[in-house]
Amino acid sequence: MSATAENIDAYWMPFTANRDFKKQPRIITGASGHHYTSADGTRIYDTFSGLWTSGLGHCHPKIVEAVQQQVATLDYCLSFQLSNDKAFALADRVIGMAPDGFSNCFFTNSGSEAVDTALKIALAYHRAKGEGHRTRLVGREKGYHGVNFGGMSVGGIVPNRKIFSANLIPGVDHIRHTLDLEQNAFSRGQPENGAELADDLERLAALHDGSNIAAVIVEPVAGSAGVIPPPVGYLEKLREICDRHGILLIFDEVITAFGRIGKATGAERFGVTPDLITTAKGLTNGVIPMGAVLVTDKVHDAFMQGPDNMIELFHGYTYSGHPVAAAAGLATMDVYEEEGTFEQSAALEDTFADILHSFDDHEKVIDVRNYGMMGAIEMAPRDGAPGARGLEVHKKCFWDEQLVMRNGMDVLQFAPFRNSNPDEMQQSFEAIRRVIDAVD
Ligand SMILES: Cc1ncc(COP(=O)(O)O)c(C=O)c1O
Repeated sequence: MSATAENIDAYWMPFTANRDFKKQPRIITGASGHHYTSADGTRIYDTFSGLWTSGLGHCHPKIVEAVQQQVATLDYCLSFQLSNDKAFALADRVIGMAPDGFSNCFFTNSGSEAVDTALKIALAYHRAKGEGHRTRLVGREKGYHGVNFGGMSVGGIVPNRKIFSANLIPGVDHIRHTLDLEQNAFSRGQPENGAELADDLERLAALHDGSNIAAVIVEPVAGSAGVIPPPVGYLEKLREICDRHGILLIFDEVITAFGRIGKATGAERFGVTPDLITTAKGLTNGVIPMGAVLVTDKVHDAFMQGPDNMIELFHGYTYSGHPVAAAAGLATMDVYEEEGTFEQSAALEDTFADILHSFDDHEKVIDVRNYGMMGAIEMAPRDGAPGARGLEVHKKCFWDEQLVMRNGMDVLQFAPFRNSNPDEMQQSFEAIRRVIDAVD
């Protein structure tokens, strides 16, 4: 049975205005390449490549085939004290793409789990090194690190934290965010101003003593808060301060890894190497849920002590390294290599930036931001109704222009396919302009 207006009540949708949605549901029943298909057969162009996930396009035949084969060969196997061939092969491939110094890969099922895993590894690393006093974790305002308690606590998106304020994990601080419309609005790529905001970490190190801080986690380019590229020199400064105080630097690359910004990782693109990297979305092109934490040999080796028969990290998931997810991941890595996806993505980013910045002088727009194949158009909020204009644009794009686009409040966010057709991209933004013009 498929979804009809009568039977959609049971599903409590995530990050959705459920009552509003169910008045006029937007339900997808198929996808191919750069388009979705809705229940009535309408083809809908996807400007967000899934949810930052599906950069190769939907239902890529190689990934579909790999999943079909794997599910008929080995559907699942015990993941503790035993594993499957595909998990080992994928870990090896992913580490092969990581910056120098990275040696190991821990699998999870989502970005949120990758983040909580990374935070736990960071804390356990210090303890293994005899520095169990390093317990404090530092996130950044406007950061998004998923919705589990660790990620939510280091995250800095207010509505996600507000209800759970009293239950967030203790010992967490936040450095300031880097969004500065006064100085940096309409910057193309990295903004010029704001590297000094990294000094906020130095302030926290002075307050707590750096020797008590375990790790700092940031997205190299903040995604969910509305595409906030790092100011020039900012990430370098963070790295320096971490080094000075023995603090681990975690890059949350759930969005930025695997070509979203033109290289295998944001670390590579920015030339700043963290100690841990979290990934998820592009790992399987969104086909099967999977995440991964990549760690440097320094971090991994600290755990490899004590009797050989002891578990080194009491942490893991039933579905860590799931064979079908790993098969999807392997096929995805093959396609990245065969199709030169990261180079394709890098070659498209100027065209994307030109299209996006053609909105700079629109009267309803207060900022346009971009980096790689990540972009945002921030609209002025409607008086007394923040977010209303953004949701209206999302809905109007769907119903009137056959486009899926994502809004975070009044910030329209875009994640074009890494292999987008420039004409289709251009046409999709012409449609978006019509919609922005038309809404109040
Ligand atoms: C940077 C970052 N970290 C973590 C997550 C959480 O990932 P998931 O939704 O797979 O749990 C996201 C999701 O958008 C993300 O963008």
